[in-house]
Amino acid sequence: MIRTPSPLALHVEEITIEACLPLRRVVLWPDLTEDACRVPEDPVALHLGAVTGAGHGKRLVGCLSLCPVGANAVQLRKFAVLSEFQKQGIGTALMEAALLRTEASGARSLCLDARIGAIPFYRRFGLNGSGAPFLKGSMEHLRMEIPLPRETGPGRGCRLSPASLGEG
Ligand SMILES: CC(C)(COP(=O)(O)OP(=O)(O)OC[C@H]1O[C@@H](n2cnc3c(N)ncnc32)[C@H](O)[C@@H]1OP(=O)(O)O)[C@@H](O)C(=O)NCCC(=O)NCCS
Repeated sequence: MIRTPSPLALHVEEITIEACLPLRRVVLWPDLTEDACRVPEDPVALHLGAVTGAGHGKRLVGCLSLCPVGANAVQLRKFAVLSEFQKQGIGTALMEAALLRTEASGARSLCLDARIGAIPFYRRFGLNGSGAPFLKGSMEHLRMEIPLPRETGPGRGCRLSPASLGEG
């Protein structure tokens, strides 16, 4: 679990796909049902949630999913922070947690398909765009990627698997 010094008493923790679905629908696909917000990789993905408060005041305000791609890469998918909680550092906390978890898995890169408006956000974490923008549905996206680990050093073997994504 990663804790941040946020005034919202925010922490990032592993959550279930069932917990992700309402956020995905509200933030990303308000016209779909929750069930239609699933993606095929969900059963093997690691889902991270940003939670504010504690006890009965606990509230899930953001989520993302880390999906293994091939033997040594991970794709970040379905990144969503509730609109009233955006621009308060919650996405940053989730992104840092995602990078740490992916590095810990031994994966050699993290990629994602960025909505055009989110490109400056991802650039802040060292992700670079590749190729030309493309359409997913009616929305323009750009493939972005960062090689891992972020700091070079010997002795880090690759042991990526859905299970290893859940460690740490
Ligand atoms: C993209 C998204 C996940 C980012 O989450 P977030 O919680 O808003 O992210 P942060 O608050 O950490 O950072 C967002 C911006 O607010 C700024 N910010 C962070 N804390 C801030 C604060 N206290 N006051 C003012 N601005 C702040 C950051 O500098 C950042 O600027 P940048 O976009 O130029 O990099 C979120 O905006 C979202 O869900 N958007 C809609 C869905 C979407 O586009 N998902 C991504 C699909 S690829």
